[in-house]
Formats: sequence, structure tokens, C-alpha cells
Amino acid sequence: MKKITSVLLASALLGAALAGCGGNNNSSNSGGAAATGSGNSANSGGSGKTPKVGVAIYKFDDTFMTGVRNAIEESAKGIAEVDIVDSQNSQPTQNDKVDLFLTKKYNGMLINPVDRTAAGVIIDKAKAANTPVVFLNREPLPEDMKKWDKVYYVGAKAEESGTLEGQLIVDYWKAHPEADKNKDGVLQYVMLKGEPGHQDAELRTKYSIQAIEDAGIKVEKLAEDTAMWDRVKGQEKMAAFLGSHGDKIEAVLANNDDMALGAIEALKAAGYFSGDKYMPVVGVDATAPAVQALEEGTMLGTVLNDAKSQGKAAITLAALLANGEAPTKDNVGFDISDNQYVWISYKKITKDNASEVK
Ligand code: GAL
Ligand code: CA
Repeated sequence: MKKITSVLLASALLGAALAGCGGNNNSSNSGGAAATGSGNSANSGGSGKTPKVGVAIYKFDDTFMTGVRNAIEESAKGIAEVDIVDSQNSQPTQNDKVDLFLTKKYNGMLINPVDRTAAGVIIDKAKAANTPVVFLNREPLPEDMKKWDKVYYVGAKAEESGTLEGQLIVDYWKAHPEADKNKDGVLQYVMLKGEPGHQDAELRTKYSIQAIEDAGIKVEKLAEDTAMWDRVKGQEKMAAFLGSHGDKIEAVLANNDDMALGAIEALKAAGYFSGDKYMPVVGVDATAPAVQALEEGTMLGTVLNDAKSQGKAAITLAALLANGEAPTKDNVGFDISDNQYVWISYKKITKDNASEVK
């Protein structure tokens, strides 16, 4: 008995030491798992304790993901202890964070991948440690999702946001004959893309234009370039588009609001939005500065990317899995498709319903 006690004590100390070395002041769960000798060190859940969930965000310096991060923190209250870390837009950094979560024997993980094709490696590690993982915002490849049943994805259908964004332009074009500046019956547009390879960048680009064409409008792409979801880069790229195409541009589509807001800055510098010089600019996310731009009349429209629901669904799911519980529509509070996916819907936002977002 004495021997067993000292072994337990030693493992409890080790657990506490491991939890402590990450600079985390919440050692109760990871240390406790070892101390109770449950025989399942990675997943001590189901014992009524609040599970510990390691959360890695692709980079903290991203407007939309900051909203999601805040929602995770808020919704975690009472259901999980979260350790939220910045992967600094580097997959190797994120892999180190994942290793640390596993070393600390957290009960679950919530990962917003830097590179979505890296999810497979994370899943292999999680499975080996029997630590459930929920991915968020950057969708793992289907073949990776199939590697384990304790892997989930929470996100929004990228094609849906593209379609809604295109429809915003359609509505404007149909209501404003003067939008066809050169009167050739064709919509000349420029496209600001997010990070290449990101499902939201590729599919928003494709489906926004498809929605315009589906409405019977002919389009001509004058320019397309990536601005990596970034406001400053959006401004620079838009300034370059204006330099080469000037007033031939009849609409600006951006894969997100930050790039749209950057484009608006460049347009303002070129004299737009004063007098009768106007340009329809659309984005996606409905961030606070975008809603302000809608109200000011610079941004034509955006699409609500529901950070609150995405954060809430993701941490609720991660907490349940970390506790060894089977997620259902009832305990998650959101529909689960194909046993592994939670899809949050998008919504068109213009000046008229902007107040709903706030
Ligand atoms: C998109 C969002 C972008 C950016 C990106 C990061 O869903 O619209 O603004 O946050 O996710 O992965
Ligand atoms: Ca035209």
C-alpha cells in the first residue's frame, strides 16, 4: 500500500510539474488524472471535473478569428478550462503547441490549423494519445477526417458565403443601371482573394462570380490577386488595380471584410465615396469595422460569418468529447452532419439589417 501511495504521489507530482512547465496555473485536471490512477491518463473525463482543452488559433492577429477566440473563451465558462495559444501563422509552431497539449495530458484539443493539409498529422498524434480533437475554420481534407471518429469540424460552408456575396452585387447591379459605367452590358470586376488554398478563399472566389453569372449578368475579370485576408495588403493590391484599370472597374469583391476595408481606403484615396463617385465593394465576415462601413455607406454589403456560434459550437463539442461523452444535437445545441461536422450558416448583411449584427 505504501509503495502504491508513493507511486501515485510521484505521478501526481510529475503531472503537476508538467502542467506547471507550460506556465499554466490550472494544473488540477492534468495532475489529477495521474493522481487518481484512472488507467486512462489522457482522458480522465466523465468524472464530473471540468475538462482541460488546449486551443491553438492559426494566428491571433486576424480580425475574424479574434472574434471566434473571444467566443470560445466566453462559452468555455463552466464547461472547460481552456489554454488558448497563438500558432503565429506557422505550422511548425502549431505542431509544437499540439505536442505540448499532449504532454500535458489535456483531455481534448480545439485546433484552427495554419495549414489545413497538416490536420492529418495532428489527427494521428491525437488518436495515438486518445485525445479527441475538434478542428475549426480551416477544414481538414475528407480523407484525414476519416482517420478517427473522435475528430470533428466546426465551420461554415464556403460556397454559401460566396453565393450570398455574389447576390449582393446582383441586387445592386439590377437596381442601379448606372453601375455599368461603360454601358457595355458587362460587369467589369476585380477580386481580392484570401490565402490561396484556404477553402474560403477558393470557394468564395468561385461561387460569388457564379452567382452573378447565374443571375444572367455577363462578367469580365479585370484583375485578381491575393491579399492574404489582410487589410493593409488589400489596400496595396486595390491601389495597384486602380493604377492599371482605373475607372474601368465597376465592382470590387473581396473574400473577407478586412481586405474589402483596405480596398475602400485605396478607393477613398482615389476620390471615391465623395460626390457621385461610387464603387460597390463587398466582403465577408460582418466584423465591427465592416458594419460601421456599411452604415457609413462605403461598403455595399457583407456576409455574416457567425464567430459567436462557431466558437460556442466548437468549445461545447470539444468539452463533451474531452469528457468522454458522445455529442448529440441536444447536448451540443447544433446539428451534427455525417457524425463529424457542425455547419454554421451565413447571412447577407447590408445597411438595412446591419443593426442585427451589433
Ligand atoms: C475566414 C474569414 C477570414 C479569415 C480566415 C482565417 O473564414 O472570413 O476573415 O479570418 O477565415 O482562416
Ligand atoms: Ca461594364
